[in-house]
Amino acid sequence: MGCYLVTGVAGFIGMSLAKRLLSMGNQVVGIDNLSTGYSDNIPKEVLFFKGGCQDASLYNEIPQVAYEAIFHIAGQSSGEISFDDPVYDLRTNTESTLHLLKFALKINCHRFIYASSMSVYGDFLSGPVTERDAINPKSFYAVGKFASEQYLKLYEQYGIKSTSLRFFNVYGPGQNLANLRQGMVSIYLAQLFSYDKIKVQGDPDRFRDFIYIDDVIAACLLCLSHPEASGKAINIAYGVKTKVTELINKLITISGKQVEVEYSGKTPGDIYGSYANISLAKQILGFNPQYNLDNGLEKMIAWAKSIYRERVAL
Ligand SMILES: NC(=O)c1ccc[n+]([C@@H]2O[C@H](COP(=O)([O-])OP(=O)(O)OC[C@H]3O[C@@H](n4cnc5c(N)ncnc54)[C@H](O)[C@@H]3O)[C@@H](O)[C@H]2O)c1
Repeated sequence: MGCYLVTGVAGFIGMSLAKRLLSMGNQVVGIDNLSTGYSDNIPKEVLFFKGGCQDASLYNEIPQVAYEAIFHIAGQSSGEISFDDPVYDLRTNTESTLHLLKFALKINCHRFIYASSMSVYGDFLSGPVTERDAINPKSFYAVGKFASEQYLKLYEQYGIKSTSLRFFNVYGPGQNLANLRQGMVSIYLAQLFSYDKIKVQGDPDRFRDFIYIDDVIAACLLCLSHPEASGKAINIAYGVKTKVTELINKLITISGKQVEVEYSGKTPGDIYGSYANISLAKQILGFNPQYNLDNGLEKMIAWAKSIYRERVAL
């Protein structure tokens, strides 16, 4: 038990992590600028500070205590949105990482876990991608994620033991169903429930590797008990290739809603596909994802139905 700093605590992954840490009897200090997250998401036991991680003055406000670890989860998390304002993306994502690393050094916090992304690989069409494969970012967002990973590596020389978790497509209860530019599963699910029509921008044969939120949180926590993960970037995925069309068919079947599906256009910076080799996560972290896409979608759709029922009842 101890105290943890979690950035992005009002967002999908950050709040899920904070809830889990609290349920284990820990204390959580949380940061979020509420750009895409909601204050209602933040568990009430979290000591919350509203601010951008790229803002140097924030680090004078937050407690300078002996954190067991810093989980840097905050970030603008869409490749597409990074094209709107690349300078903002650099500041909000990459500069943020540098400030947090400086803070970690100042307060002698030696464990730093970072929410990186599969987007660093760009397209990888020839089988499951490993951490040894080439980096080929296709968006400003992906460039910034990789730059953050490199800053983490530089800070290893000062004794900050860091791990970059390269999340593939994360989905599950708590994902933002109001933001139609972020998160493939949440976007299609929101369209299915709100508009009775799913509009797919891009090729139906594009593919992804979908990983359920509980498995992602398990991976974050496994880093704490596996110091050998420090200095590494590790794929966090289910390890299965799923085409966009397969995802949509599953959403329709599991939800029981008959909807029209329209395919058109494309999204800037979108990759055609990649899926992960997760041997390193298994070997170093003992990572063993529990939810295949069917099990995970069943849980997420049950949650989404309850949200939409509540809205209709209001
Ligand atoms: N969801 C995925 O599929 C996925 C995949 C790969 C990587 N990631 C990474 O995981 C992290 C969390 O993603 P998410 O899905 O929970 O997104 P999210 O948008 O739900 O959560 C991100 C949170 O960070 C906050 N935030 C953004 N920039 C900030 C800043 N500069 N300072 C303080 N707070 C800031 C937002 O308000 C939000 O609450 C992001 O860094 C994202 O890039 C997510």
